[in-house]
Amino acid sequence: MQSLSARPVSIKHFLNTQDWSRPELDAVLAHASGYKRNRIGHELRGKSIALVFFNSSLRTRTSFEIGAYHLGGHAVVLQPGKDAWPIEFATGAVMDGDPEEHIAEVARVLSRYVDMIGVRAFPKFIDWTVDRQDAVLRGFARHATVPVINMETITHPCQELAHVMTLQEHFGQTDLRGKRYVLTWTYHPRALNTAVANSALTIATRMGMDVTLLCPTSDYTLDERYMAWARQNVAENGGSLTVSHDIASAYAGADIIYAKSWGALPFIGRQPEEQAIREANRHFIVDEQKMALTNNAVFSHCLPLRRNVKATDAVMDSPQCLAVDEAENRMHVQKAVMAKLVSQPGVQE
Ligand code: CP
Repeated sequence: MQSLSARPVSIKHFLNTQDWSRPELDAVLAHASGYKRNRIGHELRGKSIALVFFNSSLRTRTSFEIGAYHLGGHAVVLQPGKDAWPIEFATGAVMDGDPEEHIAEVARVLSRYVDMIGVRAFPKFIDWTVDRQDAVLRGFARHATVPVINMETITHPCQELAHVMTLQEHFGQTDLRGKRYVLTWTYHPRALNTAVANSALTIATRMGMDVTLLCPTSDYTLDERYMAWARQNVAENGGSLTVSHDIASAYAGADIIYAKSWGALPFIGRQPEEQAIREANRHFIVDEQKMALTNNAVFSHCLPLRRNVKATDAVMDSPQCLAVDEAENRMHVQKAVMAKLVSQPGVQE
C-alpha cells in the first residue's frame, strides 16, 4: 500500500503484454514454471491485492485468491454495484445517476489499503468506439498509486501468459517460432467479448509463430489496434500473419488450434443483425474431422467453453486438449506477475 510520501514516480502496471519487453515476459514465464514446481513462497508476505470484478469469473477469481495466499498475501474481492458501491468513470460527470463514488476516490482509497489492484471489466458491446477506450481499466491505472493488473477487459494478458506457458510445456521448448498457430472463431449463441481473441493474436505473433486468424467473414476481423500489434510483432519477431475464411486450408498442417467465439465489431450495438451470419457458421465448431487435417495439433481454449457448440466432447476429452492445463497455469503466471509488480522500486516497502 502507498502513503502519499511513498508514492512512486512511475508505476509499472500489467495492462497488456505488449507494454512489457520480451525479456520481462520470458522472466515471468520462467518464474511461473518455478511456482509450478514449488507453489509456496513469501513474495507477498504482508501484502494484499484488491480484485475488482465487474463481471463473473471462476478461474480468474480462484487463481488470484489462491495464488496470493500461496505467496503469503491476502486478496479481497469487490464487486461494484453488488457488494461495493457503483463507480463513475467519466471525468467531470455530474453524478446524479446510479454511481455513488468516482474512480478518482475509489482507486486512491484502495491504494492506501492494498499493494495491487486487479480489474475485470468487460466491454458493454453497445458502442465499440467507447469500449475500445478501456475506460475502467485506464481509470484505475490513472488514479491508483499501486500497480494495476488487467484481469480481462478488452484484452486478457494473464490468459496470454498461461497460454504460452502451456504451449512451451507441451512442446518442451520456450522457442515457439516455426509453429503453425490457428486462432479460430467458433459459434456461440451470443456475441462475446473479443478480449481473448485480441490477446491470442497478440501473444502468438509476439512468440514469432506463423499465425492464421480463421473467421467466417471479414466482419470478424479484430480491432485495428490488435491487428496492428500483430503486424508489428511479425515485423519484429518473424513468423507470419494470415487472415483466412477457409476452414480446411487453415487447419491443414497446423500445430496449434486455439478456439474462441467473439462478436463482429461492425455489428456492435445491433447484434440481432449479426445473428444470421452467426447461425450460418455453426460449422466452425472444432471437431475430430477438422483436427484430423492438422499436424497432430494441440487444442486449447481459455474456458468457459460450451461443449458440442464450440468444440466437441471428443476434442475436449482428447489428449490433445490443453485447456485444463492452461487454466491451471493461470495461477502460476499470475503469481509471477504479482511478485514482479510488488518488487518494483517505489512499490516495495
Ligand atoms: N478464462 C477465464 O478468465 O476464466 P473466468 O472467466 O472463469 O475467470
